[in-house]
Amino acid sequence: MMDIFTLPEFIAILGEDEAQKALSSFSVQKNLDVEKFIRENAIPYQRHHNARTYLFVGDSFHICGFFSLSLSCLEVPDEISANMKRKMRGFGRSSAKTVPCYLLGQLAREDSAPHDSVSLQSVLDIVLGYLDTIQEAIGGRFLRIDCEDKLIHLYEAYGFKKVYRDDELELNQMIMFIG
Ligand SMILES: CC(C)(COP(=O)(O)OP(=O)(O)OC[C@H]1O[C@@H](n2cnc3c(N)ncnc32)[C@H](O)[C@@H]1OP(=O)(O)O)[C@@H](O)C(=O)NCCC(=O)NCCS
Repeated sequence: MMDIFTLPEFIAILGEDEAQKALSSFSVQKNLDVEKFIRENAIPYQRHHNARTYLFVGDSFHICGFFSLSLSCLEVPDEISANMKRKMRGFGRSSAKTVPCYLLGQLAREDSAPHDSVSLQSVLDIVLGYLDTIQEAIGGRFLRIDCEDKLIHLYEAYGFKKVYRDDELELNQMIMFIG
């Protein structure tokens, strides 16, 4: 049985020390930036309201996966099609250089967790459910993720479209329109 906890809920149940221990032992060999985030930054990001982290929690409070959501914005690059620019900007912002969005900043399944316990599909099911409510309350046009070249096809399979590659960071900014 997998439960979804917010980070504050997890800390309230286990206590700060045990919760931090559980976060610090989360392994993601395939992506050490994501591993570093949950081990070191999830709690400070939460405290400072930079992001919200959600945990997939299995038996004995083992963290099987997690994702983080936050507010963000995205530059509208000159190079993209006029149609994509129009869609990103929306009504009344026809020359906006940056547009607001939501960011799925981090997500991972823990290395020892069963493959089917956490997936991009299961994360998106939850995130898009939250965004339904949030969009109803305050608007917002799209969800953004940033990924390495090798994961572009995975996100495309779930409906994300590549906007731009940041060559310095070697990350692709991809978006999915919501609502
Ligand atoms: C992102 C994630 C939760 C998606 O889970 P999922 O929907 O079950 O998809 P899979 O794990 O089967 O991954 C799909 C493919 O991408 C590959 N892949 C996923 N993350 C990868 C990574 N960081 N580096 C290289 N390949 C990766 C998988 O090996 C798999 O390849 P295959 O189809 O040839 O077997 C999971 O792949 C994961 O935890 N990855 C590591 C953390 C990560 O990279 N997060 C994304 C940051 S943008």
